[in-house]
Amino acid sequence: MPLMSRKKKTTLQVIPENWLDPYDFKAAFQDSEKPFEVDIGSGKGRFLVARSGKFPETNFLGIERQKIRIHSSGRRCERAGRENVRLFRMEGYYAISQMVPTAYVANYYFFFPDPWPKDRHHDNRLFNSAFIDALFRTLESGGCLHVATDHLPYFEEIYVLLQSDDRFEEIKAFEPDDEERTDFELIFSHKEIGRCSFRKVENWSVGGVEL
Ligand SMILES: C[S@@+](CC[C@H](N)C(=O)[O-])C[C@H]1O[C@@H](n2cnc3c(N)ncnc32)[C@H](O)[C@@H]1O
Repeated sequence: MPLMSRKKKTTLQVIPENWLDPYDFKAAFQDSEKPFEVDIGSGKGRFLVARSGKFPETNFLGIERQKIRIHSSGRRCERAGRENVRLFRMEGYYAISQMVPTAYVANYYFFFPDPWPKDRHHDNRLFNSAFIDALFRTLESGGCLHVATDHLPYFEEIYVLLQSDDRFEEIKAFEPDDEERTDFELIFSHKEIGRCSFRKVENWSVGGVEL
């Protein structure tokens, strides 16, 4: 008899038929006119379930590459009855650069990204200039990016990249309430946490062309 997985799959995971063009989120959500927010590396979904409950008039996408974490976060959101959450099991840069439509996202959350602390592994870090370009393209005018991490050298790197980029302006750092603190934030609550938030400059234009 074949071995069967006892883990129930989440119904919130969406699998694109076409992996080359932006995904049709309007079809995925019943009410597609709501603002759209994305949790990058959403892990086990503690933030997603809290935030989507606090803001039922917003649609949320969690992007996470680990299957087991997609299932944990999906079950968490299903148990809480969330209809405004969908999940991509996908690599974060690919998802944002290929699958998210232009000028579509009101807020990105990038919480406790893998820091790849060894020097020779820094190339594996998700946050770099190509990633910023993908965030910029997909954020709506005035849309925001919120970052938090306990790894202060990685925080500094992200902060400097954003602060030196004219397309973004710094705003007051997003502070989660207790329910919104992510699973990793709870683990690292004894450490100093770096937080920053930046807004895409409204009506940014290059050579008279608005982007
Ligand atoms: C340190 S955990 C933090 C999870 C969650 N944000 C939290 O704060 O509890 C980082 C998460 O990002 C996911 N991740 C790392 N690199 C990724 C990538 N390139 N694309 C998608 N997910 C990624 C990992 O699988 C992991 O679940």
